[in-house]
Amino acid sequence: MRLVVIGTGYVGLVAGAGFADFGNDVVCVDVDAARVERLRRGEIPFVEPRLEELVKRNLDAGRLTFTTRIDDAVPGAEVVILAVGTPAGEDGAADLRFIDDAAAQVGRALDGFAVIVTKSTVPVGTADRIRALIAAETSHPFAVASNPEFLKEGDAVNDFMKPDRVILGVDDDRAARALRNLYSPFVRINDRIMVMDIRSAELTKYAANAMLAVRISFMNELALLAEKVGADIEKVRKGIGSDPRIGPRFLFPGPGFGGSCFPKDLRALAHTARHHGASLEVVAAAERANHRQKHVLGERIKAHFGANLAGQRVAVWGLAFKPETDDIREAPALTLIADLIAAGATVVGYDPAAMEQVRGLGLELELAPDMYAAAQGAHALALVTEWTQFRGADFRRLHAAMAEPVLFDGRNIWDPEQLRALGFQYQAIGRGPLPR
Ligand SMILES: NC(=O)c1ccc[n+]([C@@H]2O[C@H](COP(=O)([O-])OP(=O)(O)OC[C@H]3O[C@@H](n4cnc5c(N)ncnc54)[C@H](O)[C@@H]3O)[C@@H](O)[C@H]2O)c1
Repeated sequence: MRLVVIGTGYVGLVAGAGFADFGNDVVCVDVDAARVERLRRGEIPFVEPRLEELVKRNLDAGRLTFTTRIDDAVPGAEVVILAVGTPAGEDGAADLRFIDDAAAQVGRALDGFAVIVTKSTVPVGTADRIRALIAAETSHPFAVASNPEFLKEGDAVNDFMKPDRVILGVDDDRAARALRNLYSPFVRINDRIMVMDIRSAELTKYAANAMLAVRISFMNELALLAEKVGADIEKVRKGIGSDPRIGPRFLFPGPGFGGSCFPKDLRALAHTARHHGASLEVVAAAERANHRQKHVLGERIKAHFGANLAGQRVAVWGLAFKPETDDIREAPALTLIADLIAAGATVVGYDPAAMEQVRGLGLELELAPDMYAAAQGAHALALVTEWTQFRGADFRRLHAAMAEPVLFDGRNIWDPEQLRALGFQYQAIGRGPLPR
């Protein structure tokens, strides 16, 4: 099938390369000319495991090409996929300007029937908006469809190639057939394609992200309660996660969620609810709780050393919003760093992948070449992102490097007893106070 994918971010590039890998002829379009140049050379503009080999293989086979021109790419395409960004606007609603711009350009470039599919996360009703924008630009027949994407950064290739489910929101038989054909090789063993109306598909994506965010915020609030009542949230987590109605995933307390999706999608869903006069109290509460949670590590460090951190050197391990990515959008580490700097601390950060992104922010932050260099001379260390290399840290070396052995484990990845036995003062989330 001949496909066009518009937007070569995490979603568009993974989808474009993934579809090409199943033998489709895919043209990926991006307005960012420098990005397109790099992609043509097989260089991936962000960190994502296995993506480089997937892109290179399909680039070499001639099934995957890159351009900046929608008007060159779209003629002759059977399916055009919109995968541009949908950031939060000022009032919390999704900012659809990239979608609008791309849709109008697609409309002008159509030369025959095509299915225009939205893979970006967009509010309910956006397909109608896209339909109107395209219809204003062309007299050719076309169909619109919704195909929300559920991949996770850090494991995006795997998620895309082996999806849990494929949601197709359609109101046109030709669109349904084309998209089923496109996805059937991905779900050969077990047909997990779900066909539904477009509005339900659009809402499903927000519902999934909101449910996951609510779970995290619930566990974060419960962890703080566990500390007050003398319970261990890790035991509670296992206790409730073994109930099949609850399940064990997404129950890990931490320093708050970040990333390019949950925060903006919660705001957009809450905005949609307000707009329609519906109440989504739980979603609004999950967002408020997350905002508070992002300050918890900073508050703890101040509770230990005093509100004025001048003269204190604090190491931060993990800057990306999650492991296996260099994405720092809304990362909890950035909130912590801002809180520490505001309190006068000297902050030194290390991340296996996100150093360049953080350097680009121009913060008052030292960046260390490795995890132990970051800890050298530090009075405290905060673990914010649970990269695997931090799990198996050499604690004797860490103890020797630090000026004071004070650890704030924002992800509960270490064993409190082991660390206390090694002479650390250790505090996790929801596992009791820091012994003094
Ligand atoms: N990142 C994720 O994990 C993820 C997962 C599921 C869904 N989503 C959703 O998918 C969408 C894309 O997310 P992302 O993280 O890939 O975004 P991104 O910001 O990484 O990439 C978007 C790309 O679109 C390009 N672009 C913008 N306007 C364009 C235009 N008119 N023509 C061509 N290219 C254009 C930008 O230059 C950029 O490269 C968002 O709606 C997001 O909510 C993201």
